[in-house]
Amino acid sequence: MSPRVLSGIQPSGVKHLGNYFGAIKQHIELQDRYPGECFYFIADFHALTSLRNADEMRASVRELAVTYLALGLDPDKALLFRQSDVPEVTELAWLLATVTGMGLLERATSYKDKIDRGIKPSVGLFTYPVLMAADILIYDATLVPVGKDQIQHVEMTQDMATHFNETYGTGEELLHRPEFRLSEAPYVSGTDGKKMSTSYGNTIPLFESGKKLKKLVGGIVTDSTPLGEPLDPERCNVFALLKLFAAPDELERIAGWYRSGERDGEPFGYGHAKLLLGDHIERHFAAGRARRAELLAAPEKVEMTLLASAERARTAARATLDRCKRACGLR
Ligand code: ADP
Ligand code: TRP
Repeated sequence: MSPRVLSGIQPSGVKHLGNYFGAIKQHIELQDRYPGECFYFIADFHALTSLRNADEMRASVRELAVTYLALGLDPDKALLFRQSDVPEVTELAWLLATVTGMGLLERATSYKDKIDRGIKPSVGLFTYPVLMAADILIYDATLVPVGKDQIQHVEMTQDMATHFNETYGTGEELLHRPEFRLSEAPYVSGTDGKKMSTSYGNTIPLFESGKKLKKLVGGIVTDSTPLGEPLDPERCNVFALLKLFAAPDELERIAGWYRSGERDGEPFGYGHAKLLLGDHIERHFAAGRARRAELLAAPEKVEMTLLASAERARTAARATLDRCKRACGLR
């Protein structure tokens, strides 16, 4: 049986190269491997735990939908919907909450990290993993592609499914235990060499072009080796990003220019590498940029796509919720 793939993506402004190579690209590729079985949703209910401005929420949700569609998500092959358009998920979250021990949630490292960073927790932030479990279980998902930081949440989902099945199952499996799939995606470093992340302010946003892109790429931190001196490509933030774009033979050529400090008899330095990188980024996203502009000009089309997907997702969600409510004696 083909796996049912599911992933949720938080809306949070414009996505960056790290999000693309780390998550979005894999999501889109999976639609050809498992057509009709990929469920992707924009986690707006989850985003409420940190985003509390209606205009920003709407803009971020639209930006995320447009980003996926512009980069190749095909709504005939994969569903793309707003989490909140399937409200059944909150009902299942409640059922799960009643069989989930406090201890399980208290062990969540992502919650503890947020507290350590001084975030004042809401009940919603604490129970975030329960809603995430409902997201996964309500669609009978079997495969959840995630980044490292989300693995524990999928493991908690497995525990919740087991607890629920043990409490209410009468031999039949009420909720399917999912597996996570750690993305083989590269770790993308930011302009300062640390992990590219919205919270570090070191991102290269998707779809940036022209002068702005040049400026961002120009700002990538390098050491101060003078032009024409040999450079170590493996210790260079620019080269690390070039690896995401250049074909192996081109990359080998560039590495040669780094090591010798020269290209075709002329001195070669970080500035030249940055120009190459800027060109690559510009070209790689040219088609997506054009498509994004078209979609931003047709918000009703984007909305219809989201709603049509939500309708299909809802059919699957209702079936699971019905089964679970019946098992608890709520029907
Ligand atoms: P951000 O740190 O910008 O807030 P998120 O934590 O919301 O990004 O991550 C969204 C998705 O993008 C996750 O699947 C995550 O693994 C992936 N991702 C984010 N940053 C990177 C990165 N620098 N390298 C690889 N993947 C990343
Ligand atoms: N918690 C995930 C994140 O922050 C987003 C998410 C919500 C999710 N529900 C999910 C991911 C279900 C996978 C499956 O990135």
